[in-house]
Amino acid sequence: MNKEGSDSMEGMDGHMSHDEVVSLNDSTGENELKIPPVLEDENAKEEEIAYTVRAQKGETEIFDGTKTKTLGYNGAFLGPVLHLSKGDTVKIKLINELDEDTTFHWHGLEVPGDADGGPHASLKPGEENMVEFKVTQEASTLWFHPHPEGSTSEQVYNGLAGLIYIEDDNSKSLGLPNEYGQNDIPLIFQDKTFDDKYQLNYDAAMNEDGTIGETLLINGTLNPMLSVKKEKVRLRLLNGSNARNFTFKLNTGDSFEQIATDGGFLNEPVTLKEITLTPSERAEIIIDFSKLDTDDDLALINDEDGSILLPFQVSEQGGEDSNIPEKMNDFTITEEEMNLPVTKNVEFFGMMDKVTINGKKFDKDRIDFTQEQGVTEVWEFYNKPDDMGGMIHPVHIHGTQFKILSRNGEEPSENEQGWKDSFSLEPDETVKVAVQFKNKGVYMLHCHILEHEDNGMMSQVKVE
Ligand code: C2O
Ligand code: CU
Ligand code: CU
Repeated sequence: MNKEGSDSMEGMDGHMSHDEVVSLNDSTGENELKIPPVLEDENAKEEEIAYTVRAQKGETEIFDGTKTKTLGYNGAFLGPVLHLSKGDTVKIKLINELDEDTTFHWHGLEVPGDADGGPHASLKPGEENMVEFKVTQEASTLWFHPHPEGSTSEQVYNGLAGLIYIEDDNSKSLGLPNEYGQNDIPLIFQDKTFDDKYQLNYDAAMNEDGTIGETLLINGTLNPMLSVKKEKVRLRLLNGSNARNFTFKLNTGDSFEQIATDGGFLNEPVTLKEITLTPSERAEIIIDFSKLDTDDDLALINDEDGSILLPFQVSEQGGEDSNIPEKMNDFTITEEEMNLPVTKNVEFFGMMDKVTINGKKFDKDRIDFTQEQGVTEVWEFYNKPDDMGGMIHPVHIHGTQFKILSRNGEEPSENEQGWKDSFSLEPDETVKVAVQFKNKGVYMLHCHILEHEDNGMMSQVKVE
């Protein structure tokens, strides 16, 4: 592993400065990307889904010939994809087979508070539970991960994370690439640090401002590459890292189309040369390989440090003639929403273990905000800089897909004009968001740098 240059990463006070981040090693491209399995529905009836999701320990051959101790859902490492359709009634049996407490949180799902899997929903080792909810939101790529108070970061780091796909009539009619694992590819990006025995060493990687590793895994694959046919390929990007930001770009500088945000399709595809995702954000993009040759060197890189993330190998084969429609959704921000007064002010501040929201750390027994079910409110977020400048906090709210109204008073970029459940909040930035909850319950609002969350950068919203 490349430890070079790590000296210069030390800040004056001995910890990592938040301006300089350990670089990722380039992917050598020697391993074909692993594609997560799709979880089987245990219920044969239409519009009813039954899943069993178990959190378990395991061993995974990440490096050839050695076993790494990992955690996973229904397997040794990471999790399967859960398919849901709008309108489905979903029952999920949760089983905790870990040696520690855990919860099962559905990130981005608009579910009642008692199904959301926040820190109140802790299951002890050996315990089981059932959650039930109806899918009321549109087609999107969401994810699931644990949320136990104080140990979310370590459990996610060790492998607990999986994807949720929601489909609806619209998504099925658009003609977008949708052959799973062929031209519709899930990509969970995570950075890890391995010790000299090839074990995930959370403590060694740990930094109060977020674990940053030098080794990239995509879907748990070390040194991944992706074989593609000459066709349009849809990539569902999830920044599943504890703390690292990714700026995805093609090594050639060519553009691609973004088609979806965290919570649904954009109205129209947005042509981009790069896209930044902070931890927990998703984007669906389409890259057109139809005019490429087998010897073209195309790769997805991370513009934050120039590292090669995912080299592509184009095959001779032609593929599907899929389509990127001009119109994909009807997301709107109404005049009324634009003119609502700000009713909640939320200030993110600090770094390391001194992180707070509105000056407070998380307290399980304290409700910080209340909101009425079904009522839209405008929340104003502010990232208050400290004397070192401050850092980006990825802000996330449970149980809702919201609308970004403005960033520093300006209209958000085209590719943020769609449903979001997480967004980056830069130092000294003010972001206005229109938030509505469809269900009741207690929901978390937090920084998705998981170490910040565990250090208390989390509040509770009660919806009644
Ligand atoms: Cu990704 Cu509190 O969640
Ligand atoms: Cu969440
Ligand atoms: Cu933070």
